[in-house]
Amino acid sequence: MEPGTVNPLAIKDSMLHVMTAQVTVLPSKHDFLVDGRDSLLEAAMRAGIPLNYGCSGGNCGLCKAKVVSGEVKKTRHHDFVISHEEQDQGYILLCSNTAVSDVVLEAPVAGSVQDIPFQQIEAKVKMTGHISDDILMLHLQTPRTQRLRFLAGQRVTLRVGQSFSSELSIASCPCDDRNVLFHIQRQTGNLFSDYVFERLKLNDTVEIEGPQGEFILHEKSTRPLCFFVFDNGFAPVKSLIEHALSLEIENIRLYWFGSSKQHIYLPNVAHSWADALDNFYYEEHVLGFDLHSLSGNREKMLIKEIETVVTGDTHILTGDIYIAGAELTVNVVEKYFLEKGFPKTRVSVECVK
Ligand code: FES
Repeated sequence: MEPGTVNPLAIKDSMLHVMTAQVTVLPSKHDFLVDGRDSLLEAAMRAGIPLNYGCSGGNCGLCKAKVVSGEVKKTRHHDFVISHEEQDQGYILLCSNTAVSDVVLEAPVAGSVQDIPFQQIEAKVKMTGHISDDILMLHLQTPRTQRLRFLAGQRVTLRVGQSFSSELSIASCPCDDRNVLFHIQRQTGNLFSDYVFERLKLNDTVEIEGPQGEFILHEKSTRPLCFFVFDNGFAPVKSLIEHALSLEIENIRLYWFGSSKQHIYLPNVAHSWADALDNFYYEEHVLGFDLHSLSGNREKMLIKEIETVVTGDTHILTGDIYIAGAELTVNVVEKYFLEKGFPKTRVSVECVK
């Protein structure tokens, strides 16, 4: 900007600053910021807080919550009816209101996988693209009024064509619940994989069922988050890390072990986190043997590699361990950490197909 001219971005920024309100959710004591453009539900999701909701469009009433103090403003029409009695008690819909002052709400927050309902959604293919010869990125978009509620790190069942199905980890953050990403491994002879690689096209319908799985963040823990990814175990870890970043969790360590360099198939994503964040550490290890066949000597070589990493990073001994990859590898690495004295509650595992 030249001297004397008005910077519109600065004005907008200061207006937003004035209009930004702090919201505290009871009884969980989560808090987040909201500005006048966002509904309370959108702002909470962006901050990684899994409030209860359904349609996001004022129809289902699942996002009903009570305003304990502060002022909110209705910004969108809703068809769901809140009785006069409830309105007098302070009940509102989070998807249809924003905050105009600091606000305290009473609203349920999903704390475990049992709090997330089973859903069946018909989504559309928004995009597909090859990440590598063997891995395809599938981007599905759900209808605006039926989004996918899930916790970071969970799986869903996808069904395509004439009912070819597969259970897959979600590779994106629940903070964007309409756009759901998957990394699909080519497995020749597998009907689901063949269909996705050869026949699935833009705007095709894909049925989503779920979510399932308990590979989720221990959000109340203040320990470092230590991720051990093996080959294609990156999808659920990507979802967890994106969620952790939206919660502004600090001290994240990511170690990605590949049978070969090609098996570490999205190094740029990991490098970009490490470059942008002070407390994010990333390291790659190319093993030079196939992690899907870990007979005798190879198992020892893998353990030796893990031991080197653990010895070289003091944060790991005090951290929560998250392990994702093929079942065989995951079992070996989980056993290593348990034998090292880590309690089972601090070692989470996810087997990826
Ligand atoms: S999420 Fe359905 S009414 Fe708000």
